[in-house]
Amino acid sequence: MAWMAANMSPTPSLKEAFKNDFAIGTALNTQQILEKDSAAAILVPQQFNAATPENIMKAEVIHPGWDQYNFELADKLVAYGKKNQLQINAHTLIWHSQLPAFARRLKNADSLRMYLTNHITTVAGRYDGKVYSWDVVNEALNEDGSMRKSIFLQYLGNDFVVEAFRLAQKAAPHTKLYYNDYNIEQPQKRAGAIALIKKIQAAGVRIDGVGIQGHWRSYDLPLENIEKSIQEFAALGIEVMFTELDLSVLQNPGPVTADVGQTTAYNDRINPYTGGLPDSMQTQLAGAYENLFRLFMKYKESISRVTFWGVNDGQSWLNNFPVRGRTNYPLLFDRQYQPKPAFYAVIKTSGQ
Ligand code: G3I
Repeated sequence: MAWMAANMSPTPSLKEAFKNDFAIGTALNTQQILEKDSAAAILVPQQFNAATPENIMKAEVIHPGWDQYNFELADKLVAYGKKNQLQINAHTLIWHSQLPAFARRLKNADSLRMYLTNHITTVAGRYDGKVYSWDVVNEALNEDGSMRKSIFLQYLGNDFVVEAFRLAQKAAPHTKLYYNDYNIEQPQKRAGAIALIKKIQAAGVRIDGVGIQGHWRSYDLPLENIEKSIQEFAALGIEVMFTELDLSVLQNPGPVTADVGQTTAYNDRINPYTGGLPDSMQTQLAGAYENLFRLFMKYKESISRVTFWGVNDGQSWLNNFPVRGRTNYPLLFDRQYQPKPAFYAVIKTSGQ
């Protein structure tokens, strides 16, 4: 059975192991939300107490036309969360990517402002009190800490982030409101994120936390910068979370980002583990996860949640990014939902 180890002793539970420390989440895909994935239907409630929709609450799915909203899957997720006692970390209100076609065509400040207002008011309003949190703004920064040239920046200027949080605060008074981004553990981008958060706070607008996505690699984990980030973000008086954790074992041909626009052509040389992950790599991955969770435990007072970006290796976006069709192994459960050595390495750090 998927939730039993090979020796048939019950597999420990992540959510139990860290219950006094931080919430443990996973991203869920559509099949999992609909409980069509029978192994996940058993494993998810056993291992996790938080869930993030990987795609179905993004604007292109939930708001496909000006006056057209599609709440069916999101409503199912809320019901699934309630049934299985999972906090739902909704993702995401304002993001330059996965925008509906009608929003991508907007070309002036008035219509962009109307989109921002309608989208946040309607979507965050509907789920207030039903989801635990929203990633209000996602990935608004460039690697050097400056603001990304999205259509929001282009037509609404720098203040669109404050405005988004102001609208979310009004529409969703009972929902935690977060800023979420990748590589914000890196010094320049971190400084940009800190400035952005301070700006929201200085405007008297509520921001409850920051999500460091955590799309890293098992062979060059930036532990020192992660530690500094926890310290500096926590000093702003907000929750610190790791919201999209996965550790790629594959080398990337290009620059290291999670920018979904950056892809590279496939070749066999950059896809070496199609027949399985060698023991030495399993050990490296387990060691990286162990070091990371030791650090998380050191700062457990500041960290409210750690969410993995997917339940098992087979569903990970890293099989298709930045190169389509590779075989990656970034999570704690393998393609058959069996716990990997990395799972036991993480459990060990909990001291339970
Ligand atoms: O829904 C269509 C489907 O109809 C079509 O048949 C299929 C063919 O490729 O594509 C499906 O859409 C895909 C979608 O995931 C749902 O599976 C898109 O092509 C694919 O690009 C999309 O990728 C998602 C990506 O965000 C897109 O922006 C990944 O699953 C998701 O893991 C990833 O998540 C992001 C976070 O939201 C933000 N941070 C970075 C992270 C990783 O990129």
